Amino acid sequence: MNKKQIYILATGGTISAQGDEGKTLGYTNGVFKLGSIIKTLKGIENISNLDGEQIFNISSEDMCIDKLLILAKRINELSKLDSIDAFVIMQGTDTLEESAFFLNLVVKTSKPVIITGAMRPATANSADGPNNLYDAIVVASNKDAVGKGVLVVFSDYIISGRDVQKVDTFRCQAFNGKEFGCCGYVHDDIVNFINKSLKPHTINSEFNIDNIKSLPKVGIVYFDADLDSDIFDYYISRDYKGIVIAGSGSGMISKRWKNKILEMTKNSIAVVRSSMAEGGSVDRDNLDEEYCTIPAYTLTPLKARILLSIALEKSNSYDYLKSVFERY
Ligand code: DGL
Repeated sequence: MNKKQIYILATGGTISAQGDEGKTLGYTNGVFKLGSIIKTLKGIENISNLDGEQIFNISSEDMCIDKLLILAKRINELSKLDSIDAFVIMQGTDTLEESAFFLNLVVKTSKPVIITGAMRPATANSADGPNNLYDAIVVASNKDAVGKGVLVVFSDYIISGRDVQKVDTFRCQAFNGKEFGCCGYVHDDIVNFINKSLKPHTINSEFNIDNIKSLPKVGIVYFDADLDSDIFDYYISRDYKGIVIAGSGSGMISKRWKNKILEMTKNSIAVVRSSMAEGGSVDRDNLDEEYCTIPAYTLTPLKARILLSIALEKSNSYDYLKSVFERY
């Protein structure tokens, strides 16, 4: 069997962290660099050849859109090389779901792109980084991962970049694919794909960021029944082009917010309604016609922010943005 050439892009996060011997709390991110992390993987040389780079060394809280643009462009550039078969990205888990969806929308390759990380620092007794990284490389090396879009491999699961979400603050099984489930699992060197996301991604998405330097600003506003609509003035004054509301229930908002939202949509600020609820969908509602809002369907507020920002770069037409949220 020809071993696959896997290119690893390390960005920091707990997978690179050092803490008190054996402990899981109070660690420092980014202490262990890519080279020393790879050395901890036993038997990986039988699976694939590894190369890579330390593209950033940050906590994932600092993985802003400008950094994601750099990461996506780097993957797009490297993916043209015949000498690379697949990519593995290591990053902090806190914003991993946003990176996964962003890359899923803008990376232009059908080569596997797998993201992983760790919930426990490398020095913890229960360090999960080596196993997650090993699994990510195994999945990246598997022919069935080709053309599946960006995937997250974490605690033995393979989860689509579109649906993955972080669901725990300290347990190792910290990610799931919402009620849509996972795409499959990895167990040592066995990779078993069971489901796939049918939403457009990578080479089939209409978004291309290669010549783009920055994206329109989009903010998330978390609803509560007492929150004054003046909260939106901040975003308006800072030239935000879009707002995602994390609404109650099926993306609902108070009377006191509605006039402000109409004022914003009339002034070409796109407003997307998503939900703070964990499951279900925010579907079309009469509200949308009346206030020119856009339902986020099954996208969480975090994912809706990413999609809105990328789509706004193409057009701020209401009909276009509405159709993007229907399709992605
Ligand atoms: N500071 C967090 C980050 O980089 C660590 C979280 C993690 O990697 O689990 O996202």
